[in-house]
Amino acid sequence: LRVGLLFGGCSGEHEVSLSSARAIAQALSADQNTGKYEILPFYIRKDGRWQAGELAQQVLESRTPLQLESSTPDSPSPIASSEISTANTQQLNRWQSPSQAAEIDVWFPILHGPNGEDGTVQGMLKLMQVPFVGSGVLGSAIGMDKIAMKMAFAHAGIPQVKYIAVNRSQVWSNPCVFPKLCDEIEGTLGYPCFVKPANLGSSVGISKVRSRTELETALDNAASYDRRLIVEAGVVAREVECAVLGNDNPKASVVGEITFESDFYDYETKYTQGEADLLIPAPLPDAIATQIQDLALKAFAAIDAAGLARVDFFYVEATGEILINEINTFPGFTATSMYPQLWAASGISFPELVDQLVQLALE
Ligand code: DAL
Ligand code: MG
Repeated sequence: LRVGLLFGGCSGEHEVSLSSARAIAQALSADQNTGKYEILPFYIRKDGRWQAGELAQQVLESRTPLQLESSTPDSPSPIASSEISTANTQQLNRWQSPSQAAEIDVWFPILHGPNGEDGTVQGMLKLMQVPFVGSGVLGSAIGMDKIAMKMAFAHAGIPQVKYIAVNRSQVWSNPCVFPKLCDEIEGTLGYPCFVKPANLGSSVGISKVRSRTELETALDNAASYDRRLIVEAGVVAREVECAVLGNDNPKASVVGEITFESDFYDYETKYTQGEADLLIPAPLPDAIATQIQDLALKAFAAIDAAGLARVDFFYVEATGEILINEINTFPGFTATSMYPQLWAASGISFPELVDQLVQLALE
């Protein structure tokens, strides 16, 4: 079976994607999967252009993004990584074997964040009539937009923190609207609260705010990332996560917990070794873990996810409340990431997991 690995992408999580892709490529060629899969790498550069063949393979192995000479997306000049001589760049800038994409039996879009985890790539693959791993257009799109996601969760009766949806125009265009918005946020949510772009992952653009000045700055900053923003009430809670695997009859993994010293689980804490610890399984009463698993499956169905998702919750120990934070339709997938580790602790090894994901795509 020819598996097309799609990685990189025009997203703040480009580098995370390279790490996930390398781990998945290794697992697809692990002993257990020997002879099953032929892997063809397709690298989506930060400017949106695609590279196949050797260059994609190099990026995958080195986990080093191509350095772009110019940030203009439509720049006609080919871009080379430092090791590649300029003589080769014209050739490398084209697909080395354009017919390769037509030969793919199943795509594995290993893309995190906008332009990849959000239904855009899924729409293209659907149009190509080739099966692919993970959620379809609807599930991916709802799973990426925190406002749409929360509306789906509310409709499904899944408890969540209080929030206010904001449009960039309320922050930027009208000087009368902005103070009213801030008043509403202070009155309804109070401090601390979290200001987030609605459509990014890995905590990019997110701020935790404790005062009016911080709120104003955070809204302005988040508005520079996205038209749609969300402000959520802060809760004092433990952060617990559950992995889901399957299509219409999915399974939930054991529950894991994240502990960290930093003020919140931001990008640096997520990706700096030693900044956060994963406890798998989470030290929780059985009844709580079961409730979390049930809610994770509910959330998966609520957005019409498929294949895989990691569902993140807050567990308020003082009250016993479990509040959903979000669902990620393509969660971090390195060997040390929560999603594969939750499955390893639930009896499914990394190579078995990627094998099951490819098989689920073909269902
Ligand atoms: N968005 C990152 C990759 C995650 O959810 O793990
Ligand atoms: Mg996310």
